[in-house]
Amino acid sequence: MPSILHCMDCGRQYPTNAVAYTCETCGGLLDVQHDLDALRGMVTHELFDQRLGSLDAPYNSGVWRYKELIYPDIDPAAIISRPEGNTNLYHTPKLAAWAGVRTLYLKHEGENPTGSFKDRGMTGGLTQARLLGMERVACASTGNTSASLAAYAAFGGLRGIVLFQNKQIALGKLSQAIAYGATCIRIAADFDRNLELVREMSSALGIYVLNSVNPFRLEGQKSIVFELTQQLRWQVPDWIVCPGGNLGNSSAFGKALYELHQLGLIDRLPRLAIIQAEGSNPLYRAYQHGFEHFAPIKAETIASAIKIGNPVNYPKAVRALRWTDGVVEQVSDQEILDAKALIDAQGIGCEPASGCSLAGARKLVAAGVIKPHETVVGVLTGHVLKDPDVTIGYHENTLEGTSAAYPNQIHTAEPTLEALRQILLNEAAPSLTPKQQDEHRVS
Ligand code: F0G
Repeated sequence: MPSILHCMDCGRQYPTNAVAYTCETCGGLLDVQHDLDALRGMVTHELFDQRLGSLDAPYNSGVWRYKELIYPDIDPAAIISRPEGNTNLYHTPKLAAWAGVRTLYLKHEGENPTGSFKDRGMTGGLTQARLLGMERVACASTGNTSASLAAYAAFGGLRGIVLFQNKQIALGKLSQAIAYGATCIRIAADFDRNLELVREMSSALGIYVLNSVNPFRLEGQKSIVFELTQQLRWQVPDWIVCPGGNLGNSSAFGKALYELHQLGLIDRLPRLAIIQAEGSNPLYRAYQHGFEHFAPIKAETIASAIKIGNPVNYPKAVRALRWTDGVVEQVSDQEILDAKALIDAQGIGCEPASGCSLAGARKLVAAGVIKPHETVVGVLTGHVLKDPDVTIGYHENTLEGTSAAYPNQIHTAEPTLEALRQILLNEAAPSLTPKQQDEHRVS
C-alpha cells in the first residue's frame, strides 16, 4: 500500500498528492503514514549499514539513507538534497560529569548544510513541494527555518518566502536567508502570529507551507533518531533530550521511535525529555496538570529560536511523550546560557536553544528523574555561529537579566611581549566550576 496522509484525530485519510497540513473534517494534524506491515522484514540494520559512507545520491544523505522510512515510494531523481545529516555524535565525559550521568552524547544537528536540524526536514518538504508542482514555498520563522528554506528553495529552483519578527532574529540566520535569495519579510508580530499569517497567505495565494505543520518535514526530521541509533550500533540510549519550541522535532522523534519499535529495529523505547525555556513554556505548563488543557502564552526568552507561545505540533508532542513515557522540563535563560558556554568551551559549540538539552538533562538528574547510571543523548539543534550577539554578550557580560558563570573575557594588550606575558601568566585554565557571580558582574 502506498503511503498516505492520515489525520491523527479522526483518522480521515488523504492521498500524498493532496496539498494539506490539517484535516478538512476536524482540523487535526496530519501524519504521513507508511505501510509498516509491508516494510517489516524489508528494512533491516544491514540495509542501512550497507549505505553508510555511500558516495551516491540519495544514500549519501543522512536522511535518505533511511529512504524506506521517510518516503518509500519516492523516485530518487525527484529528491532535493544538499545532502544533509551525517552529523556527529560526540561522546562528552566532562559534560556527562557536569550533568551527573555516566554517559552523555551530544548529537550535533548544527553540522547540517545550513547549520541546523531544519535541513533534514527541508529536504523532505522541498521534495514534496516539487512533486506537487508548487513554484513557491513559505514559512514563518524564528530564524533557522528561514535559512534552511531559503537555501533548499534556491537549490531546488523554487521561490522561497520567509516571514519573521522585525526584531530579535539572530544575525547568522537573517544573513543566511538574505544571502540565499529568499523574499524576506519583516513583520511587527511575534512568531505565533507570523505562523498564522503564513498559513493564510499560502492558502490564498497557492503557496506551499514549509513550517513543521507540514508532515513531510517531520518525516525528514525523524532521521535524527534513526541516525543516532545507528551510530550507537542500534542500541537505544535511555534518554533523548531536546529543546522544545514549535515541537516539530519532539513530534518527529516520537514517530521515529514508534516506527523503529514497530518494525523490530529497536527492542525498547528510550524516554523523551523535552526542555523548554521558562518564558516560553506552554508545553511544560500543560504537562504540569497531565495535559488536561492547553493555553498559549506570550513567549519570552533569550534563546530566540524557541521563543514560541503557541506550538502548532502540541498534540503530536503529547503523543510522543505518551509513546515514550516522556517528561517535560523547563530551564531559565541563565541555565541555558551557562550550559551553552560549557558546550562551546568543549570545542563543540552550539546556538543558545541547544543549551536546553544539557541544562535540562542536568536538572532532570538533580530531580532524580534521569538516573546517574543512564545513557543520555542530548540534541544540539543549531550551530555556534548562528547567534554571535548572544555569545559575545554572554562573555562580555552585557546581556540583560543574566550573568555569565563561565565567561571567557577578551583581553586588551599593549603591543609588547611583556604585556602578553602578564596576560598568559595570570590566565586560569578553563573550568567547569562557575566563577563567583559577583567576581565578574559588570557594575
Ligand atoms: N533549536 C533551534 C536551533 C531551532 O531553530 C528551533 C526551532 C528549535 C530548537 C525548536 O524546535 O520547533 O521543532 O520544537 N526553530 C524554528 C524556526 C521555530 O523558525 O527556525 P521545534
